[in-house]
Formats: sequence, structure tokens, C-alpha cells
Amino acid sequence: MKRTKIAGIGMYVPEQVVTNGDLAKVMDTSDEWIQERTGIRERRYARRFEDTTTTMGVEAAKIAMQNAGVEPREIDFIIFATLSPDYYFPGCGVLLQRAMGMKEIGALDVRNQCSGFIYALSVADQFIKTGMYKNILLVASETHSYGLDFTTRGRNVSVIFGDGAGAVVLQPATRENQGILSTHLHSDGDSAELLSMPNPGFHAGKFWKEKRPAAPKGPYGGLFITEELLEKEDVYPYMDGQAVFKKAVIKFPEVIMEALQANNLTPVDIQLLIPHQANLRISQFVQHYLRLREDQVYNNIQKYGNTTAASVPIALYEAWHGGKITDGGLVCLAAFGSGFTWASALLRW
Ligand code: COA
Repeated sequence: MKRTKIAGIGMYVPEQVVTNGDLAKVMDTSDEWIQERTGIRERRYARRFEDTTTTMGVEAAKIAMQNAGVEPREIDFIIFATLSPDYYFPGCGVLLQRAMGMKEIGALDVRNQCSGFIYALSVADQFIKTGMYKNILLVASETHSYGLDFTTRGRNVSVIFGDGAGAVVLQPATRENQGILSTHLHSDGDSAELLSMPNPGFHAGKFWKEKRPAAPKGPYGGLFITEELLEKEDVYPYMDGQAVFKKAVIKFPEVIMEALQANNLTPVDIQLLIPHQANLRISQFVQHYLRLREDQVYNNIQKYGNTTAASVPIALYEAWHGGKITDGGLVCLAAFGSGFTWASALLRW
């Protein structure tokens, strides 16, 4: 069985730069608070009525395909990872297929939030290894800025997230020992609501009845979107930041070590660790815990904030473009986020 290699990478971030100082003008926050707790200095926000999750994904995909030397008609399968799709349904996969004029190929959407890219990579890996597909386009894109609460009420969430897209083209490996060595996927739904956006949704669970009682309208249903819901502005993401932080600093090192041990490798062997850009403090904790050098870990959250599914491919693109990954180098990707879900992938470049 041939391994799967990343044949091309691309990224796209919208032009609009929003600094911590800009956010401090619309909510009670400060550059000092944000930098100290998260490391973030600025992020990009989509241009209203122009950028969508799909259009940004298309831009990243064009670059990835150009770097891989493949045309849209050569793509066999699309995987699109996002938590901020253009439509509730259908997913962004078909919108990208249409926008890029691709053949009537399969298009799969992945809803695994921050670990979405690595989950999607794992799915693509299986299709390539078995020989079913030769060229898979994997796109991860997020437009958070359209759906955040920019009042002081939402500040613990809103200052963290940013918009952007990353993409990779996956193909069978061409060199001995090249490609994805293994992927490792995990979930624990016990804390599903601690980092979630429950509305609009079809839920009517006890947890939310107590936490945010949005009364249903109409005799039979009306729990999907109610006037109360909109009046209460209960349509934003919810995050228990401390609970997420505590779990993340355990699960990141755990899933990285799992990948290394599965391949009889140790942290010393890593050329570059690309952690999901959740919070610079989390990345630094993981770096110190695994005793990695500064140059073994790539972080760019300072410029883009947390772009959820897109963060790993955006960082991968920048690291590759900046010459930090060389042929034969061992690259570790790792992510943790809403669900909770967490995952890792180990690959030889
Ligand atoms: N600006 C200023 N003050 C803020 C603020 C902001 N943007 N957000 C929250 N605060 C305030 C709180 O209201 C609270 O004030 P109080 O003490 O008067 O009640 C205080 O800061 C501390 O809040 P807390 O939530 O305990 O802060 P924290 O130290 O846990 O930091 C996070 C908050 C979100 C930065 C941190 O918990 C975190 O990064 N968690 C992980 C989040 C993450 O990685 N999410 C993505 C996962 S994929």
C-alpha cells in the first residue's frame, strides 16, 4: 500500500487586519489582556458580502493545486472541514465543487471544529492508501467574524477567533518512506456543551433549558429559531475557557506521544510540530512538557488568532513556505477542540 503525501499546500486570509486595539474600541478589553492570555496581536476578518467560507476555501485550494501541479478536472474527491459553513445545508464541499467547475466527484463535509483538518486528513489517507483516489482536495476554511458577539458579553470568545482558509492536495507518495505514517483520532462528548454553539439547532436538552431558557414558539416545535432566541442574542458560541484550557494541555501531549510511540519515535525526532493554534499559552505548555526546542514548534496565532479547522493548514503552509520543513523531515500535526475531539498525524515530508 502506498502512503499518502501532501503534494501541494495553499492558504488564504482576508486583507482586513483587526488588531486588539480595534476590538478594544467596541468592547471592554485591552491589547495587554489579550496578548498576555492568548498571545494574539491581530486577526483577519472577512470582507462583508465578498468573502465566504467557500470563497476563501477556493482561493486556498487554487494555490494548493498550483503547488501540486493539478487542474480542477484531475481532482477525484473533495473534503471540506469547517464549523462556519455558508449554509446550514448543503455543506461547503458542493459549493466549492461548483465554484471550481469540478467534475461530478464526491464532496464530503467534516464538522469536527478545531480537529477537523486532521480528521479530514485521516479520511483522505484511507482513500489514497487503498488506491481508490489519486488526487484529493482537502480544504479547511472558517468565517468566524460573521457570527461572534462583539459586545463585552462575548469578549472571552470573540477576541480569540479569526477568519481564513488552508488547503492541501493529497496524492500517493512517490518516494520511499515519504508521507503520512499514522493518524490518531479521539473524542469525549462528556463536555460537548463547554465549547459549543447550540443555536440554531434542533436540541431541547435539559442542559440548555436550565442554562439558557429560550421558550419554544408554536404548538409543536419552534425550538429551532425563536424570537426569544434572537432577542436574547442567544445565537453565539459558548466557551468555558478554563475548562477547555485544562483539558487541552493534557490531550495535546497525550495524542502527540501516541503518534510518536506508534512509530517508535520520540519528541527529539520531530522536525516541526504544528499544533492547532488555539492559544499561544497552550502551545508553549506543550512545547515545554515535551521538551521541544523553540524551532521545533510553529506558531502563528499572533497574526491570525484561532482559525479553527483552518489553523493547521495555514500554519503548515507558512512553515513550508518559510523553509522550516525539508524533504524527509518528520512533521507532527496535533489538534484539540470542541467536542471535545482531538487528533494527531505524523508524516515524513
Ligand atoms: N478582555 C478582558 N477581560 C476579559 C476578556 C477579554 N477579552 N475575556 C474575559 N475577561 C475577564 C473575565 O470576565 C474575567 O473577569 P472577572 O475576573 O472580573 O470575572 C477575567 O477576565 C478572567 O476570565 P477567565 O475566563 O477566567 O480568563 P482566563 O484566564 O481563563 O482566560 C481564555 C480566558 C479564554 C483566554 C482562556 O481560558 C483560554 O485561552 N482558554 C482556552 C480557550 C481555547 O483554547 N479555545 C479554543 C479551543 S480550540
